[in-house]
Amino acid sequence: MRCGQEEESVPLTMADMFSGADDPAGWPGHLWLEGRTVVHLQSDQERPSHMPRGPVAKSGTGFMNPAMAPARTRSVLLLQDALEHGWLVDDRPIRALDALCATGIRVRRWRNEIAPELQERLHITANDLDSKALDWALSSVRKNRTNGIFPILDDEQIPIEQITENGIHFQRYDARMAMIQGSYQWIDLDPFGSPVQFLDTALQGLGRVGVLEVTATDTAALTGSSSTSGLRRYGHNGIVDHYAHDDAVRVLLGTIATSAARLDRSIEPLLALFDGHHVRVSVIVRKSKLGADENRQKMGWRVRHDDIPYTFVKHPSPEQIEHSSGPMWIGPLWNEEITGRMTEDHAVECCLPRETDLNSEGDMDLEWTELDQVYAERELRRSVRYISDASSLLSSEHLLLPYDQIAPWAKAASMPSMVDLIAALNEEGYLTARVPDLRPYIATKAPYEVVLEMVRKMDSAE
Ligand SMILES: C[S@@+](CC[C@H](N)C(=O)[O-])C[C@H]1O[C@@H](n2cnc3c(N)ncnc32)[C@H](O)[C@@H]1O
Repeated sequence: MRCGQEEESVPLTMADMFSGADDPAGWPGHLWLEGRTVVHLQSDQERPSHMPRGPVAKSGTGFMNPAMAPARTRSVLLLQDALEHGWLVDDRPIRALDALCATGIRVRRWRNEIAPELQERLHITANDLDSKALDWALSSVRKNRTNGIFPILDDEQIPIEQITENGIHFQRYDARMAMIQGSYQWIDLDPFGSPVQFLDTALQGLGRVGVLEVTATDTAALTGSSSTSGLRRYGHNGIVDHYAHDDAVRVLLGTIATSAARLDRSIEPLLALFDGHHVRVSVIVRKSKLGADENRQKMGWRVRHDDIPYTFVKHPSPEQIEHSSGPMWIGPLWNEEITGRMTEDHAVECCLPRETDLNSEGDMDLEWTELDQVYAERELRRSVRYISDASSLLSSEHLLLPYDQIAPWAKAASMPSMVDLIAALNEEGYLTARVPDLRPYIATKAPYEVVLEMVRKMDSAE
């Protein structure tokens, strides 16, 4: 099965434990760097290109999907931000679980790339059902210990089913069992396909307050291009048009908010993106009946109109229903402060390999050229490009416009460059920015007519 495809059946029983005793077959594979962390790729996995995109052509135990590197980079930055700025649990420890960790690249990046002075407060558990992937993860940690050695704390009760390396507790449970066992402040859910089967237990596996990060690769269901699975899984009536990506993000957020409300919990989005072939959302979840009730006000539908591209409404009228997609989250998508700090320079500072990384013991067999370093920096910048610029807009009400469509909508013969249009609207006092999506979109505070008028004005000035 391909990563990015949907999984039909998953063994749910606890079978043999992973051994962790010896290096697994095929070890050490060949070496690669993701962020500042050495990755051992299976010998039959090609060296990643520097522009990995989309669902991958192969998968299986030990396969690491390089197209997910940007999402993992943002996960490192977000967790670091929570520890550094104390917005989750002040300066208390964060218990973080990667519930579907595969070969453990995300947990290893958390351990390796988050600043050393914050590590003491970071307690990491890595879980997967695939014992071979876990063995691969364990060997990877042993070979590449970084950011200090983490002793097991005296008062820490380690269940015998866990194997702990460098302070990371590896375990092999069904993810639902793993999540429900703990009271985590951070849970990452990165399944094959849809996350819906894991959502309820993830929400219950968080403490009074926690962050839930969710990946969904079933974009056909979320965008509405597969209408039956969209309805079945998300209760979503989709319309595949320029707003399908934004809808997909909002449908996933709405599904999480609805599931959370059933458990008397509220959500607050931190960062939510359509990233090529997957949707990735990060939300704070709080135990709060009031918050859950307030979240209901942020659920609604997107209605398309003739005179403006869309409006959000609580409920479409019978006449509007044919032109409406939903239900979905219609509230803010990001947290302004946190995403405002997610700059390209910050990503480079935290996650670009340094001289010391390249000369560390585990990296002896790594071939890493100057060109690799240049491409790595380019990729890191791409992981967070446009986020900080759009932070204020995506954290509040805004108008989203597909750049390619604005000229035809304005009946203008030519279109100004996106940079010029953004600058012109900002000069007029309407906050406007590019949105991080592979396709060109802008978000703006300007009314629709003002944008069209500006494009016509710039067209006639040419
Ligand atoms: C998309 S991969 C995870 C990739 C990983 N997060 C990364 O960044 O490399 C999904 C993983 O979920 C695991 N899995 C699937 N169903 C599971 C379940 N019910 N419980 C635990 N693990 C499961 C698979 O073994 C696989 O390793």
